[in-house]
Amino acid sequence: MKAGNNKKRIGIFGFGCVAQGLYDIIQANPQYSLEVASICVKSRNKTRSLPETRFSYDPQQLLQDTTIDIFAELISDADEALAIVRQALKAGKTVVSANKKMVAENLPELVQLQQEFGGVLLYEAAVCGSIPVVRLLESYFAAEPLQEVRGVLNGSSNYILSKLHTEGISYPEALAEAQALGFAEADPILDVQGYDALNKLCIMAAHGFGQVVPPQKVLHFGIQHIQPEDIALAQAVGARIKLVASARHSASQMLSLQVLPTFVLPDDDLFVVDEEFNGVQLHGAYAGKQFFKGRGAGSHPTGSAVWADVAAALAGFRYSYAREARAAVDRQASLLQLYVRASDARLLARVPLQEVQSLSEGHRDVQLVGTISGAELFAHQERLEQAGAFVALLPAGLSHESLLAASAKRYQYFV
Ligand code: HSE
Repeated sequence: MKAGNNKKRIGIFGFGCVAQGLYDIIQANPQYSLEVASICVKSRNKTRSLPETRFSYDPQQLLQDTTIDIFAELISDADEALAIVRQALKAGKTVVSANKKMVAENLPELVQLQQEFGGVLLYEAAVCGSIPVVRLLESYFAAEPLQEVRGVLNGSSNYILSKLHTEGISYPEALAEAQALGFAEADPILDVQGYDALNKLCIMAAHGFGQVVPPQKVLHFGIQHIQPEDIALAQAVGARIKLVASARHSASQMLSLQVLPTFVLPDDDLFVVDEEFNGVQLHGAYAGKQFFKGRGAGSHPTGSAVWADVAAALAGFRYSYAREARAAVDRQASLLQLYVRASDARLLARVPLQEVQSLSEGHRDVQLVGTISGAELFAHQERLEQAGAFVALLPAGLSHESLLAASAKRYQYFV
């Protein structure tokens, strides 16, 4: 966005955490001559930090205002967001959005609308808050064959896990803090059950691997069933549990996607991604490994990504969606080394884990380590989640023996 007198007008949908961050940044940077035309919100009854005259309650008032150059869609409801973005794109307008669920679930249509009507949609703020990962995959690494993109993509669940590890507070307390700090989604189930990370992963797969994958087809578990004994076990082997999403070319040159709680060891870049930070590790065929870390949630960090998109869109930038898929999506995935804890032993017996070893002789819950294929785990995903099982991936560097030894040592204290 060039500083100067040529004022551009922006219409903002929503005035939650991200929209307020964007508004602050616009007000603090008048040299960029971006003027807020109006802010469209739903409820007339909320107390807000700006005078009533700044708000509109009718999306059509903004959408049909021909003096507006660009829209920022920053509401939490994915269906309403889609209706707004769809109408704007059909009118050939420029829109920036932070709504990962809306983007991930409707990417083919959103691409087609841009191609047909000439409008522009950018959504950097939808993925990893302040880390410019979409632009990185889309533009800088457009020609680089990528081997893997993995990371901590959800700030709220990472905040909760960090607090469980370092402060020993309860899960509900940590979740309440993440909500109070404005990190969590309006419906925090999206954060803790892994859907938010999954939506972000699917957007990254589209830009990094040229593969549009429907989120509901991807293996994913969340952190909602974690218990202090899982944290204690991880700590006993020097690991931290993090919710890790990955898209990787397997040995058979297929693309596998997954979102799984993971025991992360100190030699992993993601080990030092704490609180609401996100971290992205990228492995390019020629560039090698790179690691990016930044705030993944919060008003100003996410507002900054929207601001960057507004500037880029006004300067004529658009996604090219030029990357061609190099590989088919691998529904089998490779073999996973897994830790599972559940109270229902009969349910666990039906999950086809191989090389099973028990960590929990005589303890309340069943704790197992074993091996399973991604496809088999996906087939049991719903049942395991409904039964309250906690599932975590074990890295190659963590042997079953070290977990058994750590576990045996821990339970000495319980008997
Ligand atoms: N709820 C999201 C998170 C916000 O916690 O990461 C940023 O996308």
